[in-house]
Amino acid sequence: MIVGIPKETFPGERRVAIVPSVIPSLTKAGLHILTEASAGDEAGFPDAAFLDKGAQLASDRGQVFADADIVLQVRTLGANPEVGRVDLGLLRQGQIIIGLSEPLTALDSAKALAERHVTAFSLELIPRITRAQSMDVLSSMATVSGYKAVVLAADTAPRMFPMLMTAAGTVKPARVLILGAGVAGLQAIATARRLGANVEAYDVRPAVKEQVESLGAKFVELNLKTEDSEDKRGYAKTQDEAFYRRQQEAMAAVIARADVVVTTALVPGKKAPILITGEMVDGMVPGSVIIDLAAEQGGNCELTKADQPTVHRGVTLLGPTNLAASVPYHASQMYAKNITSFLLHLIDGGKFVLDLDDQITKDTLVSHDGELVNPRLRELLDTITPAIDNERTGA
Ligand code: NAI
Repeated sequence: MIVGIPKETFPGERRVAIVPSVIPSLTKAGLHILTEASAGDEAGFPDAAFLDKGAQLASDRGQVFADADIVLQVRTLGANPEVGRVDLGLLRQGQIIIGLSEPLTALDSAKALAERHVTAFSLELIPRITRAQSMDVLSSMATVSGYKAVVLAADTAPRMFPMLMTAAGTVKPARVLILGAGVAGLQAIATARRLGANVEAYDVRPAVKEQVESLGAKFVELNLKTEDSEDKRGYAKTQDEAFYRRQQEAMAAVIARADVVVTTALVPGKKAPILITGEMVDGMVPGSVIIDLAAEQGGNCELTKADQPTVHRGVTLLGPTNLAASVPYHASQMYAKNITSFLLHLIDGGKFVLDLDDQITKDTLVSHDGELVNPRLRELLDTITPAIDNERTGA
């Protein structure tokens, strides 16, 4: 089978779906790699490195889509809804497409792929089970983003992170606060600690206290009792408005003493919770920095503007939405390892095998045979469709 690697077209996307070092394992499984020219250039992987590992170079993008049985991308249509439309006409019935696709929000894109009878897999839907850890793209990209958020903060802040005792006096360590201690938050803590900052962190899930402390940070205790902070998959549950208000009040003093705040708090399928109000930003010392990693989901800070740096009363607010793409070499390397593990899971004896009794396959399959087959998507559609019908009938 031929595996096609087109160049990414989403604006600012510098990653590539596979890197040369994973090609031998794909070739060994009976797959042939066909890449578009310069697909890996921006990530630091030139065509020659792909050719050296046995890939072939397509004459143009059209050939990648025409010849490939399986197309691997970082951003498939759902995660590249404007420019990605151009590729829609190149896809054909039965073709397999694997990548990130924002499946729970980009329903129109998922429908468009189903209408073209494409078999689409969404890597955001990889179940967080031990067997699928090597395929967990979300964790890999969150790791890169958490690291880069702190590097960005260190570059933006007018102060250094470590404590220094010099002949010119003592420099106090920066006070860094991390809100949300999932994969990105834990990596942000580790990075800020490596740079010598004094780090505090908070998460609504009390279970992460131990992990925060094991990285050398202090866990902020807010004494906000909630019985039900975590769902059975380990994700944070959405809380009511009263909880978020109490959280903001309790957090105000902690925020006010921080030089840098990195926020990563997300609730799957929901708008990000507001943890920092405009008033709380007013309480921060000028020169402080907020890096809001939840900007794409609306932001954890009320004043965040996605991808638009702003300064509010001397406090710099950054809400980058695609930080992983700003570390394209290692982000691509990690992504490539994940997508290769996933692809090899679907291949047996050089052939694609669709085993719907397998949890990883079943959970990630979005469309097949002209239908949207994913249970989570179907559930979403079932809740949306009656609402639209009611709107139409005025019910
Ligand atoms: P995420 O990206 O969905 O959210 C980031 C963090 O924000 C979470 O820790 C969440 O608890 C926190 N948060 C949500 N609302 C908050 C609020 N109001 N205040 C403060 N913090 C808030 O989370 P991520 O990184 O995807 O991790 C989710 C879970 O999945 C964790 O339990 C993690 O350990 C688990 N996980 C399991 C893996 C596996 O078993 N293979 C791999 C990666 C993560």
